[in-house]
Amino acid sequence: MRNTLEVMVEGIWRQGEGNLAVRLTAPDGAALPGWSPGAHIDVHLPGGLVRQYSLTGNPASRRGYLICVARDPDSRGGSRYIHESLRPGQRLTISTPRNLFPLEKADRVVLMAAGIGITPLYAMARRLEDAGVPFTLHYYVRHPEQAAFRYQLGHPFRFGDCTIYHSSAGESPRHALPEALTRPATGTRLYLCGPDGFMDHVRQSALTRGWSPENIHSEAFQPPAPSAPASSDNAFTVTLASTGQRWPVAADQTIARVLLDNGIDVPLSCEMGICGACLTPVTEGTVDHRDSVQSAAEKSGPRQQVALCCSRSLTENLTISLAP
Ligand code: FES
Repeated sequence: MRNTLEVMVEGIWRQGEGNLAVRLTAPDGAALPGWSPGAHIDVHLPGGLVRQYSLTGNPASRRGYLICVARDPDSRGGSRYIHESLRPGQRLTISTPRNLFPLEKADRVVLMAAGIGITPLYAMARRLEDAGVPFTLHYYVRHPEQAAFRYQLGHPFRFGDCTIYHSSAGESPRHALPEALTRPATGTRLYLCGPDGFMDHVRQSALTRGWSPENIHSEAFQPPAPSAPASSDNAFTVTLASTGQRWPVAADQTIARVLLDNGIDVPLSCEMGICGACLTPVTEGTVDHRDSVQSAAEKSGPRQQVALCCSRSLTENLTISLAP
């Protein structure tokens, strides 16, 4: 496996109702690779499950990684395992951190989180505080007891301000949007993390108040709805730029599957177009993007990358730059 690390579960503790914080450290206590707010790791769990979790807490700390996992009633196994079976002292394999949701340069930042979407935004708040960039953090939970990092967020920041909203008290995003959202400015950026419905609502509200789409940043941790049934997909060929080897990709196959079947190592993780592990540069052809990792600007930009696990080709051939 590429870019993976062995870590040990150093501690697990409740972090607001329904959430568990998990601290991961190197078994020998060595420093872990650095990360920046917005980064996530893939956590390999028993049974072949691989789940992505945002890193949270202090981004300056190299002593360990902190994640926080909500118990998902519709869990496909990941959050259930962490809540029911994970134990301190247990060893796990994780990926090194990848950041598809980085903080961009800004004069002022508005952070808006719902539920466990607080995890990357709490790390962002800490980094902005250290960098002296003014920010406001708006955190929506149903009840006060559900808030993660409530103690830490309750301490005053020098450069920022945090408000926790309780939808049980009528402060849902539909009824209580922050005043900061009414003040778009060229140097102000908005970061969103939470369920799709929350992010859609806030993004639409921001756009109607004059925010520029380029200043709104969000991260999807749910797979997008399939854009078309597989039966309507066209076959094409995939070519390796390095060797010239080419193989057909049938309508019901993914590029990743074809490459794996032909002995090519593919860096896969989520296999749903949401983690970015399989993004690979394209040197020829036009990608039919099906991932939700890349922004619209990246998908239409000059340096094309294809998500091998889910995207397809609009041209008869797609040449990719992947080591054989
Ligand atoms: S494996 Fe996650 S985006 Fe392809």
